[in-house]
Amino acid sequence: MIPIAKPLIQQEEVDGVVEVMRSGMIAEGPMVKKFEEAYRDYIGAGHAIAVNSGTAALHIALLARGIGKGDEVITSPFTFIASANSILYTGARPVFADIDPETFNIDPEAVELKINRRTKAILPVDLYGHPAEMNALMDIANTYDLAVIEDACQAHGASYHGKKAGSFDVGCFSFYPTKNMTSGEGGMITCNDDRMAEKARIIRSHGAKVRYYHDTIGFNMRMTDIAAAIGLAQLKKVDGFNRQRIENAEYLTAQLRDVDGIVTPGVRRDCGHVFHQYTIRVTERFPLSRDELSLELTRAGIGNSVFYPVPIHQQELYRQLGYNEAHPISEKASREVISLPVHPSVTKEDLDQVAATIREIGGRRRLDP
Ligand SMILES: Cc1ncc(COP(=O)(O)O)c(C=O)c1O
Repeated sequence: MIPIAKPLIQQEEVDGVVEVMRSGMIAEGPMVKKFEEAYRDYIGAGHAIAVNSGTAALHIALLARGIGKGDEVITSPFTFIASANSILYTGARPVFADIDPETFNIDPEAVELKINRRTKAILPVDLYGHPAEMNALMDIANTYDLAVIEDACQAHGASYHGKKAGSFDVGCFSFYPTKNMTSGEGGMITCNDDRMAEKARIIRSHGAKVRYYHDTIGFNMRMTDIAAAIGLAQLKKVDGFNRQRIENAEYLTAQLRDVDGIVTPGVRRDCGHVFHQYTIRVTERFPLSRDELSLELTRAGIGNSVFYPVPIHQQELYRQLGYNEAHPISEKASREVISLPVHPSVTKEDLDQVAATIREIGGRRRLDP
């Protein structure tokens, strides 16, 4: 089976973890600080605050920007549930704006239509590793005085017009094992604002700036030194991992581009897409439906996955919360997308098998009109 994702753990990660275990400092300690400094420099942000998941990064970032009850935050309905749920956790209301059909990222024009006096922030998602339209979104945010909390959980090392994802206002990253780099579980907040960084650090650790003196409500969302050791070793390799993903993606696109009914991923000008997922659309011109193709690929030993089969506004939780607006571009994407393996452990032979299988299926209609 060619897996859809595979973390690449090597000797450096093992050595880093062993060093921490032997040191006796296994919770948040010097390794977390080292990882934060290295990640801050990698992104080119003023601060990096390590936490225990990408979800925690989003949750804390929103709280540290003062988002809460009565506020609205505009986000994409076509993303992982954590992007929207992190807004719910704060007591604020997620407001969905539909996506661009090519990049699957939130459409700035749709965002602007949703702004009212309760709007406090925009939460764009760099879906699949393709950065959101940050220039247009930052312009809107500046015009209406909004925060931009960029969900870059899938976009370590992605770039937009020469700047790294996560360096614009606030960035949130995930180090879950399927991501482009991992720390086991973990997350990072990047930002340029000193006060926001301090607040985030306080919220991460029970609202205490000084141990056992609690100024505000907080959580235990700290990263361990064990996780940071893995993250630090991975950070040194993430550019290489990303290059391999990009090469694999380009190889697949060259082989699938002319298959009738398949739409290969687009990359916008001046954008560095890091292909956390290589996601194609299966349109009605293809002989099989997306779900039938998924089954055939699985049968052929090719890992595949649908990110995401139900847009957030149609999830049961959100229906119960009264969401009933249509977001047709997201809904269509949910019916058509399927992701194929391009992670760094995938070989050329694997990619040839993926492409040959899809091309063979794509050719069936001509044999059986
Ligand atoms: C777009 C997006 N947002 C948020 C998250 C949440 O990250 P985590 O799983 O580390 O909590 C993920 C990853 O799972 C994600 O893909």
